[in-house]
Amino acid sequence: MSAIQPPSARVWWKQPLDRIELIWILLALAWCLVMFFMMPYWHVFGKQNLANEAYRSTPEAYMKKANDVVEKYTVRKETDRQIPVIRPPAGSDVYLVARLWEWWPLLELEAGKSYRLHLMSMDWLHGFSLQPENINIQVHPGYDHVLTITPTQPGTYSIICNEYCGVNHHTMSSRLYVK
Ligand code: CUA
Repeated sequence: MSAIQPPSARVWWKQPLDRIELIWILLALAWCLVMFFMMPYWHVFGKQNLANEAYRSTPEAYMKKANDVVEKYTVRKETDRQIPVIRPPAGSDVYLVARLWEWWPLLELEAGKSYRLHLMSMDWLHGFSLQPENINIQVHPGYDHVLTITPTQPGTYSIICNEYCGVNHHTMSSRLYVK
């Protein structure tokens, strides 16, 4: 079948299905199904996607919790903007604030210990991307996203924003220390 056909034959769904065409459709369908079922499979067995929780919150309520943690566990300040570096106790709730155009505060975690990492945006959509681990979470305003994380390798990780959020999107980066 082609576009160059008499008008009577141009309605494609009235044309008989070619065998090759049918084979391609079935192959594509089978592949779609494979990929569809791989998503839940990886989620459960592949340790690829974090199972995060999300709760409704407000910027005020979230900032209060974040400030409490910063007040308690700040060990030093870094960068010329004097961003506090916090070293929270293992197992505790850690609040990371996403806002135009920074991540606040800086985190220093201990390898092998678990933490409840909270993420929330104070304004609009940001993306939490932890490199080079390639953990990616969309950070929405109005929702407190909670991930249970256990850093395994000591080092300095980069946090970058991977959702375009305005003119200084490219400067919205931070770091995460694992000792
Ligand atoms: Cu925040 Cu891009």
